[in-house]
Amino acid sequence: MTDVVTAVHARRVWDSRGRPTVEVEVSTRLGHRGRAIAPAGASRGSGEATDLRDGGARLGGLDVRRAVANVTERIAPALLGHPVGDQPGIDAVLDALDPSPTRSDLGGNATVAVSLAVLHAAAASAGLSTWRYLNPRPTRIPRPQVQVIGGGAHAARRVDLQDFMVVPLSATRIDEALEHVAEVYLSVGRIFAERGPALGVADEGGFWPAVARNEEALAILTDGIGRTGLVPGVDVAISLDIAASEFERDGRYHLASEDRVLDRDAWRAVVERWLADYPVVAVEDPAGEHDPESMRAFTDAVGDRALVVGDDFLVTDPARIEAAAATGACNTALIKVNQAGTVTRTARAHQAARAAGWSTIVSARSGETEDVSVAHLAVGWDADVLKVGSITRSERTAKWNELIRIDDELGGLPLAPFPIRSVARR
Ligand code: PGA
Ligand code: ZN
Repeated sequence: MTDVVTAVHARRVWDSRGRPTVEVEVSTRLGHRGRAIAPAGASRGSGEATDLRDGGARLGGLDVRRAVANVTERIAPALLGHPVGDQPGIDAVLDALDPSPTRSDLGGNATVAVSLAVLHAAAASAGLSTWRYLNPRPTRIPRPQVQVIGGGAHAARRVDLQDFMVVPLSATRIDEALEHVAEVYLSVGRIFAERGPALGVADEGGFWPAVARNEEALAILTDGIGRTGLVPGVDVAISLDIAASEFERDGRYHLASEDRVLDRDAWRAVVERWLADYPVVAVEDPAGEHDPESMRAFTDAVGDRALVVGDDFLVTDPARIEAAAATGACNTALIKVNQAGTVTRTARAHQAARAAGWSTIVSARSGETEDVSVAHLAVGWDADVLKVGSITRSERTAKWNELIRIDDELGGLPLAPFPIRSVARR
C-alpha cells in the first residue's frame, strides 16, 4: 500500500546563533513521521534560496512566523494525500507553488524544512535510516573537513578569511580521522593559551581568531598540526574557506583586517603564496561570486594541487555548476540543501558536479541545530567530504557523531579518499 502524507506541521524552534528557525514534521497514513529543521547561513550567496524573515522590530527582524505560516497554510494543503515516497513529485509541487528563482515567496527555509522532513518520513515509511533509503550499500564514508579557527562573518570580521579548517589526509577511518582533528584542535588551543587569555569561540565552534593578520592564523594552524606529531600536509592538511564575496567589490579585494585593497592579480598572488608556503589542499570561494574571471584563473593556477571549491559562486545550482565546469572555473562543488531549497534540486546539483568529474562537499551552515540531515545526505549521495564546522558544540558534533554511528552500523567502512593525496611543505 502506497503511504501518503496526512499532515505537514510547522513550528518555530531555535538555532545555534540564538535565532528562530523553521521545524517541520510530516506524518503519513501508515503512522510514520519525519522531522527536519532549516539551517541558516551568515555569508550568503546572492543566488541562493531566500531565507524568509519577517522584518520589523521583533527579534531584530529575524522572526520566521511568515515562513511557518507558509508551511501550514499554503504548503500543507497542497501535499496532503501525496505519496510520501515521491520526493521529486513533492518537490515539484513546492516549485509550482513558488516559481520565483530564489523562492522569495514561500521562503527557502520553509521549502527546505518540508522537503527534508518528507525525505525522513519516506525513509521511516520504508523502515530504513535516511542514508540507507538513499543508498542501500554505501562503500565509503565522507572525509571530514573541520573548522579549527573561525573568521570573517563568523567572527565579527576579526580576520577576512572565514574558515581555517583541517582535513585529515592519512586517516582511513572516520574514528581515526576525528581523533587526528581533535588532537589538532587541542594543540591549537594550547598555542592560543600561550599567546594570551582565551577570547571565546567563533560561530561554528572554532577558536576566535586572536591574530593580527590572516596569515598568522595559517601559521598557528600549521604549527598546531606539527606539535601533535602528525605531519602537516601528509597526515593533516589545511583547507581555507576564503568566502571572498564578503570582501570583493568590483574586482578589488578589500582585506579590512590588514588595511589593504588588492586588484585581482595581486590578490591571486597572495593566495598562491599561501598555498606555496602552507600545507593547504583546498580553497573555497577564493574569488568573489561576481568575479568568474578570477575563479577560472585560480582554478587554472592551483587546480592541480588543491580543491577549488565553489560555494557562493555556485549556490548549489545545477545550471551554474554546469556553466562553471564548461569554462574551467572550480573543480569541486559545495552542496548546501538550503541554498537549493529542496532535496531534489540539491541532488541534481550533486549529480551535475559528479557529471563534470568534480569532487563534492556536502555542507552545513553557520546557523545550525541538532538536525543531522546533512550526515545522511553525505553518505546517501556518496559525497567525498562533509563540512559542518568545528569539533566542538553539540550542533556540530551531532553531525560527526551521526557519521560515526552510520559507520558503526555498516561495520566500519574506509573513508573516501581525498582527491589531493598530500602536499609536502615547500
Ligand atoms: P554560512 O557559511 O555562514 O553562510 O553558513 C558557511 C560556508 O561558507 O560554508
Ligand atoms: Zn563558504
